Amino acid sequence: MKLWSGRFKADFDEVAELFNDSLPFDCQMYAQDISGSIAHCAMLGKTGIIEDADAKLILKTLAQIKSDIDDGKLEVVGAEDIHSFVENELVSRIGDVGKKLHTARSRNDQVATDIRLYVRDSIDNTVELLRSLVKTLADRAEAELSTVMPAYTHMQKAQPTTLGHYLAAYANMFLRDIERFGDCRKRVNILPLGSGAAVATTFPIDRLYTAKLLGFDGVSENSLDGVSDRDFGVEYLSCAALTMLHLSRINEEFVYWSGGEFSFIKLPDEFSTGSSIMPQKKNPDVNELLRGKSGRVFGDLTALLTVMKGLPLAYNKDMQEDKEPIFDADKTLNISLRVFTRMLEKVEFDRAAMAAAAEGGFSCATECADFLASKGVPFRTAHEITGKIVLYCIENKKTLQALSLKEYKEFSDKFDKGILEAVKAESAIARRKVIGGCAKEELTRQIKVIREKLEK
Ligand code: ARG
Repeated sequence: MKLWSGRFKADFDEVAELFNDSLPFDCQMYAQDISGSIAHCAMLGKTGIIEDADAKLILKTLAQIKSDIDDGKLEVVGAEDIHSFVENELVSRIGDVGKKLHTARSRNDQVATDIRLYVRDSIDNTVELLRSLVKTLADRAEAELSTVMPAYTHMQKAQPTTLGHYLAAYANMFLRDIERFGDCRKRVNILPLGSGAAVATTFPIDRLYTAKLLGFDGVSENSLDGVSDRDFGVEYLSCAALTMLHLSRINEEFVYWSGGEFSFIKLPDEFSTGSSIMPQKKNPDVNELLRGKSGRVFGDLTALLTVMKGLPLAYNKDMQEDKEPIFDADKTLNISLRVFTRMLEKVEFDRAAMAAAAEGGFSCATECADFLASKGVPFRTAHEITGKIVLYCIENKKTLQALSLKEYKEFSDKFDKGILEAVKAESAIARRKVIGGCAKEELTRQIKVIREKLEK
């Protein structure tokens, strides 16, 4: 039965109904809808807006409906949306008493409450998954404090660093995601229920009581804003999009690191696929999908921004379009975090291949310039001299590590035998002791900070 049939003579067109109904997707928030109704009903009973005995019967029946849906005994079909479904079911079980539940409430403040509860649950779940990812990154980084590899700029070998430094960089990104979701949660966790259709209600409801029952930190201050605000959804999707972006970036590294030209990592068999024609292939499909799925979530964010743009106050049906992007982002983000963490636990690093890559490509040229600068040569001049040395090496097919002190001295008399040590990758790494650097002691400190932040 429609919740609004009283005023109508003709039935809703069947195609219009297919188009209008949100039950096929908002059935996913039945638990939140029933929790919201339970709190609302408890408040109606407490304030005496409905009789205590009626409130008790409604509360008991709502709990039964919830457990019947949980157990698969009650199929969620045959209504316009989840709010109508639950109310129809209530009325079919307890008759007229069930019709009292909607006193002092509109579906507009009800749906705004449900989706906030849904987003809050999503955030809590996502943060748990992010914490386990950051912990795995910190563990794996700690085991690779001395694994030398090149750092790249413009995807060209730049300076030597360690794999631990790389992995800890990603741990920092995902830590920021945790903070960002936590910050977003503060604005999600505000109760709009009590805003009514648009201008609140004449019934003496106790919104603070309802908020407390539902674990909200406060109530919306203005009913028009309460029913029409979806900023929290946009914020949630922005957080989700950024986390997907971070996943996409690390998986881009894994895709090319696993390729033949790099061979820095060996992907676990459990997370790779083969080719139907090329028997030798072991493809990084999971990593590529993690990169690709970011596009969906960026789309979800763009969808909600576009839905909300230009909407006048207060509720407009356009806002029904908030749900699918949020559900999609939640589902995509959660499976992505789960699969990536499982893969990261098992991926094998080829330390020898990484170390060999760090040797070539003149990635220690900065060390040579820094050496001269530390002997009093102005850095610009040191840079120029080193550039000439690199050119000499290229023309003579030599490396910086293979040059003799005599050859160095031909470019500057400031060189001494210390240069032979300074251009080694290990020593370049060990000297980067400043905060943020890749020296072992400093990286150990960084990982300790990551773990401390996780403890909080
Ligand atoms: N299914 C609707 C939504 O998701 C519920 C609110 C309906 N309110 C209304 N005035 N038609 O937005």
